Amino acid sequence: MRLSLGTRRLSSSEITPARALPTLVDDARAGLLAPPRQLPPKYFYDDYGSQLFEAICATPEYYPSRAEASLLSRHATQIIERAAPDHMLELGSGSSRKTRLLFDACDALAMPCIYWPFDVSAQMMLDAGAALVTDYSWLSVHALIGDYTGGIGNLPLPAQGRRLIVFLGGTLGNFEPDQARAMLGEIVGLLRGDDLLLLGVDRVKDTARLEAAYDDAQGITAEFNRNVLTVLNRELDADFDLAAYRHRAVFDEQRARIEMRLVSERDHSVRLGALDTTIEITAGEEIVTEFSHKFTPASIEALLADAGLIVDTHFEADQGDYSLLLVRRDS
Ligand code: SAH
Ligand code: TRP
Repeated sequence: MRLSLGTRRLSSSEITPARALPTLVDDARAGLLAPPRQLPPKYFYDDYGSQLFEAICATPEYYPSRAEASLLSRHATQIIERAAPDHMLELGSGSSRKTRLLFDACDALAMPCIYWPFDVSAQMMLDAGAALVTDYSWLSVHALIGDYTGGIGNLPLPAQGRRLIVFLGGTLGNFEPDQARAMLGEIVGLLRGDDLLLLGVDRVKDTARLEAAYDDAQGITAEFNRNVLTVLNRELDADFDLAAYRHRAVFDEQRARIEMRLVSERDHSVRLGALDTTIEITAGEEIVTEFSHKFTPASIEALLADAGLIVDTHFEADQGDYSLLLVRRDS
């Protein structure tokens, strides 16, 4: 589908998954009916969840977003000169706020490109796209609406032209290792010749700082985490009582990941209308809502190597807080 949205420089397409994807009902059946209970993270990002994520990025505790923005502002010129993209595809683009630093460099270098943001959160992406075509007179934006876990091999990208694939925000870390390898494998499939991947990943560090980044004092991350229950209430005709759940973020040093959980504070039952069933949840029981893997230079290089990728340039924030990597095919 193609919509004309007031300007010929902004269009959008809904991406049909390349392979069958589980529905929310499937995911709820697989993840909620019995402990250990777990949900895929994409359900956080309804319109309200996307706004909450933007608010998380502004909290004093959530350093990754600022670290990544500062790396981008420092190195955007070098990145754009090196990548010389005709087409910039961004996975999980959200508000595209940090991507503007790349467009500023395109602007300064007089190296225009076409932007292909891909996100499950359509409204956030279309609002961002409208603002981008206003602010950058040379920019065309083709918004791709869909779920990248359904595959990225069938996107309507032109066959010609140099590509830069952008994957920021540490979002690769939200996949489990096998899924992350599979995702990188699909990215390799889109890279030809001198095409590059720009990848942002968070680094292993002091546990207290990591846990604080996922449990801010204002409680915005807690609200974001609980919002997934609002999504379930709406989409599954469920009746989760949000007040019964406490947000918890713990760093598992062994697995090098933050685990986000919702902890039930009391025994209660929850009706899942769309599954035509009721579940019993006991006090202290947890629903795992997200992982956020943290990397070392060696662990990210190994993960990339498994997918046939190699680091071209590695930009690090102060004291190795965060990594921004330009990556190419290892061939
Ligand atoms: N890149 C932005 C946003 C990161 S938050 C930044 O760095 O600030 C993760 C983004 O990925 C959100 O915009 C969310 O809507 C999107 N997302 C999460 N799961 C997705 C999926 N399965 N398919 C497509 N987009 C997804
Ligand atoms: N990609 C982000 C990250 O792993 C997503 C995120 C940030 C997040 N804060 C969160 C997800 C809180 C769930 C809860 O850092």
